[in-house]
Amino acid sequence: MSSEYSVLAEGLLKRYGDKPALDGLDLAVPKGSVFGLLGPNGAGKTTAVRILSTLIRLDGGRATVAGFDVRTEPRLVRQRIGLTGQNAAVDEILTARQNLVMFARLFHLSGPDARRRADELLERFSLTESADKQVKGFSGGMRRRLDLASSMILAPEVLFLDEPTTGLDPRGRIEVWEAVRELAGGGTTVLLTTHYLDEADKLSDRIAVIDKGHNVIEDTPAGLKRAIGGDRIEVLLGDPADLPEVAALLARISGDPNPWTDPREPRVHAAVTDRVRVLTEVANALQDGGFATEDIGLRRPTLDEVFLRLTGRPATDERASANDTEPEGVSV
Ligand SMILES: Nc1ncnc2c1ncn2[C@@H]1O[C@H](COP(=O)(O)OP(=O)(O)OP(=O)(O)O)[C@@H](O)[C@H]1O
Ligand SMILES: [Mg+2]
Repeated sequence: MSSEYSVLAEGLLKRYGDKPALDGLDLAVPKGSVFGLLGPNGAGKTTAVRILSTLIRLDGGRATVAGFDVRTEPRLVRQRIGLTGQNAAVDEILTARQNLVMFARLFHLSGPDARRRADELLERFSLTESADKQVKGFSGGMRRRLDLASSMILAPEVLFLDEPTTGLDPRGRIEVWEAVRELAGGGTTVLLTTHYLDEADKLSDRIAVIDKGHNVIEDTPAGLKRAIGGDRIEVLLGDPADLPEVAALLARISGDPNPWTDPREPRVHAAVTDRVRVLTEVANALQDGGFATEDIGLRRPTLDEVFLRLTGRPATDERASANDTEPEGVSV
């Protein structure tokens, strides 16, 4: 059973004080796949990655990574994984090449082997041109790619990426996505965490949505989109008094029986499958009905809406109480 899965976790428990960070989390990541762990601030994503990469101990449950037990065989796990944390781990003063050679030497590669591996990785992550420049002049996207490269020194079986694109501009995000796809194409199993539905959607073979340390839903991106209703059409009105009538109009044209209205904005949105037809018909109907319309468009559901739909309550935001220090951390 475990040979089909690069990561297998059952009932993971982790407490900080009496507050559970993980509360029975289950994960099964098929070998060679990209698996997206999606959840709001404080959901337990980083905690799960730290446990699976043996940086912290779990309080209950069990997990194997690359076939080895994180609790009893951490050394064997560490030999088979790469990790890119939420914060970049590269040295600012060194050049990209020097960073990679240094990491390779830390992994006991000989001088010539370390330089060869650094060259391969610089090439693979499109950093050859900037190889001999100091990292402090790098853009966010370049740093992230260098970070990814440094976690790939030993071509890990399993790569953990904690929010690989947070804080990057759209170009930087696309660069990282391409690198992740390439790694996965080369046979590495990737477990990535993200706040972004579109990122999980674009990269992952399967997505687990988690909240408050446990699973909310797990599916393929297509299945998840079906479950949450896919794209939405949104209309921003000039007059809140028009909301009920426009909601009825949206329901009739989109087929979504329950459009959501937000009187504060005033805004109404509904799930759509047939994007272009619905957009055209709604635009025409609004004009024919003489409704003052500020804006109209198609958009993806936000993570908040996914949560509201799946759990019946808004996503929690515990960033204010998050604490990055890890008292019982062990270094790899
Ligand atoms: N070292 C720590 N000490 C105390 N509490 C912690 C610690 N690390 C995490 N927590 C708490 O555990 C919960 C899960 O945190 P975690 O960092 O795993 O969430 P996350 O999903 O990675 O969030 P984010 O999206 O903000 O990165 C939060 O409530 C957080 O405050
Ligand atoms: Mg985190």
